[in-house]
Amino acid sequence: MAEGYDYLLVEPGTVAVVTLNRPDVLNALSAAVLTELSRTLRALDDDPATRVVIITGSGTRAFAAGADIAELAALQSAVDAKVMARTGQALTRQIERMRVPAIAAVNGFALGGGCELAMACDVRIASEAARFGQPEVNLGIIPGYGGSQRTTRLVGRGQAMYLCLTGEIIGADEALRIGLVDRVVPAGELMNEAHRVARLIASKAPLAVAACKRAIDTGAHLSIDDALEVEASEFADLIPTADFEEGTRAFLEKRGAHFTGR
Ligand code: COA
Repeated sequence: MAEGYDYLLVEPGTVAVVTLNRPDVLNALSAAVLTELSRTLRALDDDPATRVVIITGSGTRAFAAGADIAELAALQSAVDAKVMARTGQALTRQIERMRVPAIAAVNGFALGGGCELAMACDVRIASEAARFGQPEVNLGIIPGYGGSQRTTRLVGRGQAMYLCLTGEIIGADEALRIGLVDRVVPAGELMNEAHRVARLIASKAPLAVAACKRAIDTGAHLSIDDALEVEASEFADLIPTADFEEGTRAFLEKRGAHFTGR
């Protein structure tokens, strides 16, 4: 990961941190940002040393205030618009399919594409200063990076309709209440809390973490019977692993487990 970055700050490691870095435009997600983010996350996910990725925004005001409205305004055709939506959708799907869990540490505005990016992450931790919304209706469009679909899956049809039809920007406590985020902490504690949760996940058996993520993501789109079949297969695949043997033996020997990812 020695290359330079134009729009991101990247700290590789067991817990990697990727910071969206266009604070002058509230970390708006231009096409170039999406490309760089996709390439970076792929490299981190391919590196066995990475166990969790934290995604956050630079500056104090925004996680990401949405797709870059200057680029939106320049769209010339329905074909171009569909390419744009597909690019953002591909990135969010990539995050959901990564081996390593992604934690969104939402430090400020998470609007439109920013909210959609956060929703694609596996865990969302918000600062008390965070603000959420799908304000696309104000621009005469609808969410294009999965927002009309993931809101429904995450917070239910009613709250999804409310967010997408009104474009209302809601605070962190309301986001917590409706299930749009998982934890809310004071602004000064956001990264500490994100790292605490990341280290907790990183301390678990890596193959089990990856399997758990796959089972939840795959099962969410299936019937309960098909989803339970996925769970049974993922469960069974872990039994021959060294980490299962280590985890069970460590419990019986009343000591901490030392997982190796095998
Ligand atoms: N795309 C491009 N630029 C953006 C942006 C976006 N999504 N969101 C904010 N910016 C830019 C502003 O144009 C402004 O640039 P300037 O300083 O060159 O004028 C800068 O970021 C600061 O934003 P500003 O609007 O001045 O801050 P504010 O505190 O008055 O308002 C928001 C903050 C988040 C409420 C407001 O910026 C906003 O509504 N942004 C758009 C949100 C949106 O609709 N996102 C969905 C897009 S599909």
